[in-house]
Amino acid sequence: MSREVKLDLLAAKREQVLQGGGAKRIEKQHQSGKMTARERIEALLDPGSFVELDQFVTHRGTEFGMSTVTAPGEGVVTGYGTIDSRLVYVFSQDFTVLGGSLGEMHAAKICKVMDLAVKVGAPLIGINDSGGARIQEGVDALHGYGEIFKRNTLASGVIPQISVIMGPCAGGAVYSPALTDFVFMVDKCQMFITGPQVIKAVTGEDVSAEKLGGASTHNRTSGNAHFFAANEKECIEQIKTLISYLPANNLDGVSALPNTDPPERMDEILAEVVPDDPNKPYNMADIIAAIADDHKFFEVQSMWAGNIIIGFIRLNGVSVGVIANQPRILAGCLDIDASDKAGRFIRFCDAFGIPLLTFVDTPGYLPGVAQEHGGIIRHGAKLLYAYSEATVPKLTVITRKAYGGAYLAMCAKALGADVAIAWPTAQIAVMGAQGAANIVFRKEIEDAEDPIAKRQEKIQEYEEKFSNPYCAAARGLVDMVIEPEQTRYYLIKSLDTLIGKKESRPGKKHGNLPV
Ligand code: HXC
Repeated sequence: MSREVKLDLLAAKREQVLQGGGAKRIEKQHQSGKMTARERIEALLDPGSFVELDQFVTHRGTEFGMSTVTAPGEGVVTGYGTIDSRLVYVFSQDFTVLGGSLGEMHAAKICKVMDLAVKVGAPLIGINDSGGARIQEGVDALHGYGEIFKRNTLASGVIPQISVIMGPCAGGAVYSPALTDFVFMVDKCQMFITGPQVIKAVTGEDVSAEKLGGASTHNRTSGNAHFFAANEKECIEQIKTLISYLPANNLDGVSALPNTDPPERMDEILAEVVPDDPNKPYNMADIIAAIADDHKFFEVQSMWAGNIIIGFIRLNGVSVGVIANQPRILAGCLDIDASDKAGRFIRFCDAFGIPLLTFVDTPGYLPGVAQEHGGIIRHGAKLLYAYSEATVPKLTVITRKAYGGAYLAMCAKALGADVAIAWPTAQIAVMGAQGAANIVFRKEIEDAEDPIAKRQEKIQEYEEKFSNPYCAAARGLVDMVIEPEQTRYYLIKSLDTLIGKKESRPGKKHGNLPV
């Protein structure tokens, strides 16, 4: 065979792979508002940066007529490229080829890029669009999933792992996304373990696929997803933004970009944002935006457990993970979902050396039978565990209420806050003055000639004594009480000094997080 013929053969083979499942199936994909696996990669990566691997991998199935079936690219496109010139590894399942179903060799392609991403120390982005385990391959397909799950687990805390749901993702297939750090979902795509028909047969419940496992459900109700996008283009922009805040791996050091927003910039809004009435809500997101570089806050899981806010900002260019109570929702109480949401985020940031900034305004853990029976003790403990375990720089700002166990759980000094800052409006106490007066002075109030007046007097007495930042400041449990407008300046100063912080923990195999 001449050199030219060999080159023609390569070109023909490559062309066949690039055609995926063929024009008809590609058209069907487009008609349903979806890009193809390759188009998604093109849209995600810097132009021309994608290098494809394993183009010519083929399946080895022989059952159910598979020996005569060709599956170009094995139903998944894999390789690497760059986003804003930073290396990432990708796999993108090709629904036009056997429904993107996962067989032995499809899984092997994914495992190869996972292994490379870990060896090189670069983020992994997996785009899911698949009918699940390739039915014709049986246990070989299941084994393939197992290999992926194990790699997801071993890569956890080593490289950032991002899952993108752009098509069906059902059965055990959902567990790869669940094991990764961030899950993006596009509207009208679904994830569930068992679909509506099986549920109907087993429990009699009638539910649509969308209500059961749509992007809205997982972003608002279950908390399984971190980002909701109306369409694929929007989703890809969200992924790029997230990547910009992350280091490439756990040893990469803090992610920092040049900054032009003056560190000493004071935002007037901070002076007035906390209302005089301690029971009046305000929007904590306003404070986060006011102190962030260029007022930019990239929120994570914005639709779920809104009583706590998590996300990324930059402070003088340094990427920082923010955790903040939201007084607008449930008065900023900590509940099961809020603890899960914040606990996992704190651990992600700590694993990747991203400093933590906590804003506190919480009256405590949410009271209620449903919370107690739902395991608020176990779930709430995750927050204590995650903060205590974290060795990255930890900055805490108490804007108003910091009561009881929730004061501790929101990164108090005792849990290792490196710098705890309080505003003059801070109230650091075991509980609110009203509750405290009812318990401590109950007898005195009952015996008083005018119990109502006595109660009021005792509330005021308690408030004057404890509902301020100065008792904590007197013990060194807050490092500074500052004017709110100076928050950005002092946070940046603190971060500057803490950036090289070294803190170690006793050697052990691993701790036992209350899961
Ligand atoms: C093999 C599959 C497939 C699969 C789809 N196809 N899923 N082939 N194994 N799992 C093929 C179809 O035969 C079809 O081939 C093509 O992909 C497109 O599928 P359609 O059904 O035409 O597409 P659509 O109407 O859009 O429906 C998509 C779907 C449906 C909802 C995903 O295909 C479906 O229900 N598939 C089966 C889902 C499933 O039960 N998977 C196994 C889950 S168990 P042609 O040649 O006609 O184009 C599992 C266990 C994992 O995943 C455990 C891990 C621990």
